[in-house]
Amino acid sequence: MKVGVFDSGVGGLSVVKSLIEHQLFKEIIYYGDTARVPYGTKDPNTVIRYSLEALEFFNNFNIDLLIIACNTVSAYALVELRKRAHYPVVGVIEPGVQALQNAIKQHDASILIIGTRATINSQRYQSTLKGLGYTNLHAIPTGLFVPLVEEGIFEGKILEEMMNYYFDSLSTPDAIILGCTHFPLISTALRDHFGGVPRLIHSGDAIVEYLAKVQGVVSTHQKTNLSLYASENVEGLRKIAKAWLN
Ligand code: DGL
Repeated sequence: MKVGVFDSGVGGLSVVKSLIEHQLFKEIIYYGDTARVPYGTKDPNTVIRYSLEALEFFNNFNIDLLIIACNTVSAYALVELRKRAHYPVVGVIEPGVQALQNAIKQHDASILIIGTRATINSQRYQSTLKGLGYTNLHAIPTGLFVPLVEEGIFEGKILEEMMNYYFDSLSTPDAIILGCTHFPLISTALRDHFGGVPRLIHSGDAIVEYLAKVQGVVSTHQKTNLSLYASENVEGLRKIAKAWLN
C-alpha cells in the first residue's frame, strides 16, 4: 500500500514515526505545507482551502489512502476532502477518541484536551466525547507549544513556564488527549508536570490501532520507503525527520 500523509508542516512526522515503527506501509509520501504553517491560528475556510490544495498535490501520486496527521485539518476539512478524494481519507480525531475510550472507561474521569486554538474552537473532540457520555472535560488551546517544539525544545524552563501558564488552575487530569501533531514530542514534560499520573493519548499510536480495526491495515514486516515533500524548505523538513525519526 502506498499512503499519503498530510500535515500543515513538520509536526505530522510524529504520526509517520508510529506508522514506520509498526511497518504498516511499503511507501509513505509525506507533504507538509511548511510555507503556510501554522494552520491552528487560521479560520476554518482558510484551513479547508489549503487542505483542498494539498489534495491536488497528492493527485500526482497513485496513493491508496490519505492520512491527515494534522488535528486542525482533521477538525475542519475532513468532510470536504472525503467528498473530493478517490481514496479513503482518515483523520486523527476519530482514532484519538477511540483510543481514549479504550484507555478510560469511567465516564466521570477528568479528560484534558489540548490542541491549537482552531482545533479547540471546533469542539470536535469535546462534542464527540460528550456524545459518548464523558462528562468531565477540560479543553485548553495551547498553541504556544507548537513553535517551541519547532525550535527543538522538548523540556526545560521555558516549557515549564508555559505549562504553568496554561494549566495554572487545573487539577491533575486522568488523561490528556494530545490534540496536536507536535505534542507527542513533549509527552515526558507534560506527564512530569502532572506528577506522572495522566494517560496520554497520542494521535500516531491511535491511528495505528484505528487503521488495523477500520481499514484492515496490518504490519507489512518490511521497511518503509519515506518520501518527503514540502511547500518550502524541504531541507528543514528533512533535518527534522532525521532527528525525530532517527
Ligand atoms: N499540525 C497542527 C495540528 O496538529 C499544528 C501546527 C499548526 O498549527 O499548523 O493541529
